[in-house]
Amino acid sequence: MHFQWYPGHMTKAKRQMQEDMKLIDLVIELVDARIPFSSRNPDIDELGKNKARLILMNKADLANQQLTAAWGAYFREKGYFTVNLDARTRAGMKNISDVVMEACQEKLERDRRRGIKNRPVRAMVVGIPNVGKSTFINTYAGKACAKTGNKPGVTKGKQWIRLNKNVELLDTPGILWPKFEDQRVGLYLALIGSIKDEILNIDELSLELIQILQEKYPGVLQERFQIQEEQKPAEILGEIAQKRNCVKRGNELDYSKAAALLLEEFRSGKLGKITLEFPEKQR
Ligand code: G4P
Repeated sequence: MHFQWYPGHMTKAKRQMQEDMKLIDLVIELVDARIPFSSRNPDIDELGKNKARLILMNKADLANQQLTAAWGAYFREKGYFTVNLDARTRAGMKNISDVVMEACQEKLERDRRRGIKNRPVRAMVVGIPNVGKSTFINTYAGKACAKTGNKPGVTKGKQWIRLNKNVELLDTPGILWPKFEDQRVGLYLALIGSIKDEILNIDELSLELIQILQEKYPGVLQERFQIQEEQKPAEILGEIAQKRNCVKRGNELDYSKAAALLLEEFRSGKLGKITLEFPEKQR
């Protein structure tokens, strides 16, 4: 399967982010906990160098808990702070504020040595489309937050959300584009629903999913659809179509309908908590 993106947007977004980086102390990067590698754009490491770094493993509610822990350890070993998250709920948000302060410890100490007191930490949320940036900002900032508006010395038009006396957040997230050099990245993004299904071959995509599940999560398909798993992916899709009554006129099996159904069940977590990517050591 072949995936493409649009370079025009990328250059503009990257330039904007370079500008915004000058204003902040901490980069809060969201990744999708089901594909922590493919949902990152490694360019952020260059853009955010010299900044404190926090990775939020978002949609952790849909991911395999043990693998989320393993990915957390993987990132922490590389010097990032990490928090697991379901951005739609407020649980876990308090923890983030603590980790933000911890991640910015060095800056706070530098400030103190220079006699600067009570300057809030400034942070910016970044991530690829659909990873949950807006949801996170809304939930984290909540209703109680106040927009601080423009300040002298700050680029005109920038809005800061005051989260508490210690932290301010840039109200518009930075959009990164996924890196499509590796076709697996495109495949995983398509599987989690980050690429519009209209431009994808749903049947093929579902066969890829079946193959991954057979390899990495044996038993899941069998349990969900009461089918024999030791078959070719296309045969399994046919069985799913049968079990779920996906038929066209003339009683012919509707593979595309079954494919869409399978993908929906995976994306919404009905097949269980499934992480598609494994950290290096566990591959
Ligand atoms: P973006 O700004 O990074 O583009 O992402 P956005 O916040 O718009 O979130 C994209 C989708 O992901 C939304 O669903 C949102 O509800 C969902 N989402 C965000 N965080 C989480 C999470 O931690 N867990 C789960 N399960 N879902 C999350 P949507 O279907 O596009 O909209 P809606 O159904 O919420 O209306």
